[in-house]
Amino acid sequence: MTTDDQRTAIVLLGRGGVAKSTTGELTELAAQLAQQWPGAQVQPAFIDRWQPDLPAALTTCADAGAQTIAILPLMLPDEAALRRWLHKVAMRWRAARGDGSPKLVFAESLSHAVPLPALLADAARRTLASQPDVPTLVGDDDWQNGPKGWSSVPEHTHHALWCTGPRCAAIGAVALWPVLTGTINDTPELKKRVRPLQTSCQYPCNHGPLMIVYPEGVWYGPLDADGIRRTLECHVLCHEVDAATHVHGPQTLADA
Ligand code: FES
Repeated sequence: MTTDDQRTAIVLLGRGGVAKSTTGELTELAAQLAQQWPGAQVQPAFIDRWQPDLPAALTTCADAGAQTIAILPLMLPDEAALRRWLHKVAMRWRAARGDGSPKLVFAESLSHAVPLPALLADAARRTLASQPDVPTLVGDDDWQNGPKGWSSVPEHTHHALWCTGPRCAAIGAVALWPVLTGTINDTPELKKRVRPLQTSCQYPCNHGPLMIVYPEGVWYGPLDADGIRRTLECHVLCHEVDAATHVHGPQTLADA
């Protein structure tokens, strides 16, 4: 291990999922990369829908003494607009960190950075040589039918669409998701009436963290923990729009 290794960190940056099981692969890959590069810190980070987000991962690396942080986006397609945004997130993080913040470098697109066609051809060859046909039965489910419960329509009157797109995620939306679900689950009348759903970008990112409540179609933001509770109680239980967080849509629910 060299001193340079000790001052270097790598952030593996991928898309998030809705459950730990869908994000474990990136975390595991980060652990394996750390074994390949002893001494360097390796942090997983998620662009959306899971934690830690990019600023949190950069802070972890910097607090541990990293002087150079390489950010490796693992995303296909490597969208130009998303990459521009990620550069902004990194620059804002560095500006907030102030003097002495680490140098940040972004890897190029995965499809240019590694010989991907050769790796995929190898994976296809190994699959053809070793994998059996797709199983016809998984647990109790045969392939023709979905689970029976998927035919039941829940009786909620409202949907709370919570944005966990990249820009909202970078300002805390993923960390607030358990607050939203906890607020609903801990309040029997909310639990009965509201179904929270995660969404990707809803577009007015500058108002995030953002939530849209349907069927009335009222947009709220920026929301913190207190704002989530107040807005939901106001809207769903008192049938009023919370003026403090109203962004767009009906100003009063009588108009809706
Ligand atoms: S990322 Fe949430 S509105 Fe765009």
